[in-house]
Amino acid sequence: MKSVKHLSLIIIIMLGSWACQVNDSHDNSSEVETKVEQLLNEMTLEEKIGQMCQVNGGYGHDESIRKGMIGSILNEVDPQNINRLQKIAVEESRLGIPIIVARDVIHGFKTVFPIPLGQAATWNPELVQKGTRVAAMEASSTGVKWTFAPMIDISRDARWGRIAESLGEDPYLTSVLGAAMVKGFQGDSLNSETSIAACAKHFAGYGAAEGGRDYNTTSIPPRELRDIYLPPFKAAVDAGARTFMSGFNEIDGIPATGNKQLLTDVLRNEWQFDGFVVSDWASTVEMIPHGFAKDAKEAAQRAIKAGVNMEMATTSYKDNIAALIEEGALEIEDINQAVRNILRVKFELGLFDNPYIAEEKQNQFAKPEYLEAAKKAATQSMVLLKNEQKTLPINTSKKVALIGPMADQAYEQLGTWIFDGDTTLSVTPLQAFNETFGQENVLFAEGMAISRTRHQKGFRKAIEQARKSDVIVFCGGEESILSGEAHSRANIDLPGVQNDLIKELKKTGKPLVLVVMAGRPLTIGEISEHADAVVYAWHPGTMGGAALADIVSGKANPSGKLPVTFPKVVGQIPIYYNHKNTGRPANPDSWTQMYDIPVKAPQTSLGNESHYIDAGFTPLYPFGYGLSYTSFEYSDLSLDKEVYAPGETIEVSFALNNVGDLAGDEVAQVYVQDLVGNVTRPVKELKAFERISLDKNEEKSVTLTIEVDDLNFTNIDMEQVVEPGEFQLWVGGDSNAKLTTNFEVQ
Ligand code: BGC
Repeated sequence: MKSVKHLSLIIIIMLGSWACQVNDSHDNSSEVETKVEQLLNEMTLEEKIGQMCQVNGGYGHDESIRKGMIGSILNEVDPQNINRLQKIAVEESRLGIPIIVARDVIHGFKTVFPIPLGQAATWNPELVQKGTRVAAMEASSTGVKWTFAPMIDISRDARWGRIAESLGEDPYLTSVLGAAMVKGFQGDSLNSETSIAACAKHFAGYGAAEGGRDYNTTSIPPRELRDIYLPPFKAAVDAGARTFMSGFNEIDGIPATGNKQLLTDVLRNEWQFDGFVVSDWASTVEMIPHGFAKDAKEAAQRAIKAGVNMEMATTSYKDNIAALIEEGALEIEDINQAVRNILRVKFELGLFDNPYIAEEKQNQFAKPEYLEAAKKAATQSMVLLKNEQKTLPINTSKKVALIGPMADQAYEQLGTWIFDGDTTLSVTPLQAFNETFGQENVLFAEGMAISRTRHQKGFRKAIEQARKSDVIVFCGGEESILSGEAHSRANIDLPGVQNDLIKELKKTGKPLVLVVMAGRPLTIGEISEHADAVVYAWHPGTMGGAALADIVSGKANPSGKLPVTFPKVVGQIPIYYNHKNTGRPANPDSWTQMYDIPVKAPQTSLGNESHYIDAGFTPLYPFGYGLSYTSFEYSDLSLDKEVYAPGETIEVSFALNNVGDLAGDEVAQVYVQDLVGNVTRPVKELKAFERISLDKNEEKSVTLTIEVDDLNFTNIDMEQVVEPGEFQLWVGGDSNAKLTTNFEVQ
């Protein structure tokens, strides 16, 4: 029992231990520092201010660039124009400081990978890293040297449209995959011509928008901020991310863009981040409607003082810094520090030495290996949620009715934030099914033109096709535009008349496979009852159709796992696996469904526990969940010790057995609960995972490790500690893992 904890034994995790972990992508630092200082000494105030300004688009700025009044451009991807602008900066401006060209390369450039939430469902850091490497190779071939990704906002609310861009609800999974993304974008060395600077965004807490409504207020208790929302950002710093973006949101009354505590105390002082911070689009002047600044001048002052080095799109810096210095509201050192950070990254990126893209290296897109990687990512991202009577896989000799508004939509399968995505590259389900099953075996009818269609004109043809088939594959979901920035939804059912169409199709008596392409978890609980199998395909990107055909035909065995909890109904949100227990946790034995409650039942007869009388307390599908065409069994769980000391490593060993007769991948997951804390602790937390391939009937001995120091949390005194005491650990294929053991930390 861990009823008493000795504070004297508390290990304070050294947040400053970053130095040994930062990767060496920005080595030669003293040489760079010297160059930065030399340049800074030569700069006029106007030129310094210029470095802090980012403007939109590649035209209309020539003269300002020539005068050194622009440090960065976003949203230009024409290599010739980028070279032209760079030439003005490097050869025609007084000091020849190159501009840095930025673009939202979020889940691919021309070759589009699954939306980040889909990539998170792969639980495969190498593959995710490969995805951002491909994106960097394509984007850098246009002259883009900086992406606004990864987005590592913890997202516990499926209504929030930007959950699509996130890596889900879990701090550990997001940390691991976010770090992988940073490494992929930035490559082995930042000054390589195919490297682009990553940007960890949106710092911080943006995903906690109240009610899932974008840009909304957030209220994140300081401990939750530390333990849930900040760890992925710390991991991004450790992975070498060279830029950060401040968020639109306020946290407890302080807009993220004016938040000195986050941007300076935590990011700079604690984490020793020495890259630069860009505002989000207009987030500086949006501190005016927030009621945090009276005008653009005050907004600029507050943002700079907080630690925002570059302003995106708006001009409060350009218009006000000189006056703010003059009036003493800003010190010149505030400006020098911002400019230093920006110049440092420009030097590290090699922009001073190699500012141009050689003609023969321009526009390197969609190479076969890029498409192959995108297909692999899409395949591993798809999550099999249900498969009754082995409806899947479908033998390729069968007649398949392919129905639905997402079955042949080259654009819609790409998802949100695909400014440069090339729809002509898309392989749709229809194209891929024709190939896999043979055109004569594929009976296609969209049934609805788009996911939001509200009439039933297309139903008749769809039902006819279904009648002629052996099995129906309904490909629905939501169009790309229904998720992403500012596209929050209050009702997250399948839109339009999709549910009606599915029910009509099911009436044919044919087995029905529901495939959902969406940017978020949708509330598909009820409609899934009309389906024999369900595949959650997210917005799977360029190669989505090809991946789906492989999954449906059994050429690939599904292996995706949910990176986010699926609610039964929207009223359960927020619902996430690593919740606190409460003083009255839900009790399966006393929970009675609303319609089963006896008339005039006495007030307390059904127990007083934390649940909904209509929706219960369990989700539709738990975090980490996903089926395979084979089955896996976990056994023989053991730890290398019973008692651990801080600084030690816990070795978690178990046997994983593929008990089916198909090869497959399983994502083994390890969860831990700190049973008693000096503040309350989550019921479980993911601490390790690994994707493991097994042949049919193969058994593997697996050992995963957890650092005792990674059991730390923020205690009652706001210290990061690992408390001594008893812990419970589970191993399994999702967050409901049952195989369990205990250990102690001294
Ligand atoms: C988004 C950012 C994005 C920026 C630039 C903003 O509206 O919040 O995530 O990077 O625009 O396009």
